[in-house]
Amino acid sequence: MNDTSADIQSSTGTRIDWVDGRCRLLQETRAEFADTLPFANLTIGMSLHLEPKTAALIVTLHQGGAKIVATGNLNSTQPETVAYLKARGINVVGHQTKDPGVHGDFLDQIIDSQPDLLLDNGGDLFTRYINRPYAGLLGGTEETTSGRMRLTPLRKQIQKPLLVINDSPIKQFAENHHAVGQSTVESIMRFTNRVTNGRRVTVIGYGSTGRGVAAHFRNAFSVVTVVDIDPVATLQANLDGFLTPERAHAISSADLIITATGARNVLTADDLAQLKDEVVLANVGHFPQEIDVAGIEASGQIENIVEYDDEIATWELKDKRRVHLLARGHMINLAGTRPLGNSIESMDLGFTLQARCLEAVARGQVGPQHCVVPVPPDIDAQVASSYLNLVRASM
Ligand SMILES: NC(=O)c1ccc[n+]([C@@H]2O[C@H](COP(=O)([O-])OP(=O)(O)OC[C@H]3O[C@@H](n4cnc5c(N)ncnc54)[C@H](O)[C@@H]3O)[C@@H](O)[C@H]2O)c1
Repeated sequence: MNDTSADIQSSTGTRIDWVDGRCRLLQETRAEFADTLPFANLTIGMSLHLEPKTAALIVTLHQGGAKIVATGNLNSTQPETVAYLKARGINVVGHQTKDPGVHGDFLDQIIDSQPDLLLDNGGDLFTRYINRPYAGLLGGTEETTSGRMRLTPLRKQIQKPLLVINDSPIKQFAENHHAVGQSTVESIMRFTNRVTNGRRVTVIGYGSTGRGVAAHFRNAFSVVTVVDIDPVATLQANLDGFLTPERAHAISSADLIITATGARNVLTADDLAQLKDEVVLANVGHFPQEIDVAGIEASGQIENIVEYDDEIATWELKDKRRVHLLARGHMINLAGTRPLGNSIESMDLGFTLQARCLEAVARGQVGPQHCVVPVPPDIDAQVASSYLNLVRASM
């Protein structure tokens, strides 16, 4: 008899270990940074969703010599990630909160430490820097389209290199389009456990994120309608084969409505009258105000609210229709029970862009003329080549 089981050893790992081991671009970058130390004697202040993939980025920057002072974004901070980072000597400010005031205090503390570089997500840090500028800021990065919209009019007040990761084509197709589409389908099923087949899904916003959400629900056998305030984007949706009726019809016919615009008050109390009984509302845009939850709850049209486990709330309207809201309008793929966020590979790409852009700012390879601009094309090409090399090596 050939019994080998006695020879097998066993060990355990956390989900963060699993994720970190699959962030192969960050691992390569980390090994290089340990030699080149681009952030020696520099502090990076950051605000980003504190989840396992972000931990892989932070450890990479730390290996590059950076002192880190980090806080999360509203609602999405994962306690296991905070504990993991603290155990590695990272200064983490704050904890998971849905309270914008409490979160604002955490952001203030990041600026109080006067970092040399800022890694921003939504423009919260740079807008605070403008109100309380200090000497020594070299510049930094902004992750999102929402942050770019906020910071573009403030260029004259910032006057530092500030590279917008969202505006890399890699971020747009790898994360916003493919990964958010996948993770939104996964998250809607995780929250509701309802079928996607044959359901009428309305996607509001047809930018790179909305395009991915619409495509992935089509792949999940839903009947997908698209609404966008921009007629050119709406035309593109139409030619991509989606239904593009007037907004009122798109709202009233939907079983599931997903906002993906980066704007505020996209769905409001004025829309309640048109919604179907049992419609589900969810948001994937950066700010939780895409669905005006506060305005809807103050509108006088709701008789009762049922709060289910796992962050499903049902608004029972006075006319007896029920409207279900997921995660109180926070980003669906980073909320609720066991949120996984976007795929490891998509975030590995996006966070390697982050690491390389911060390196370019730290080394003075970009200047004040690069204030709120896309990722430089040579960094895009470098990151794309590295990923392709890894893919080819495993073919
Ligand atoms: N959840 C995630 O993991 C994740 C990842 C990436 C991006 N995002 C977020 O998704 C949002 C959209 O990002 P994007 O890159 O697609 O932006 P984008 O600017 O490319 O596209 C947004 C689209 O929404 C449309 N729009 C704006 N206001 C509208 C309104 N009131 N009604 C209908 N359409 C409207 C615009 O015309 C545009 O076509 C941003 O907030 C971004 O931060 C989330």
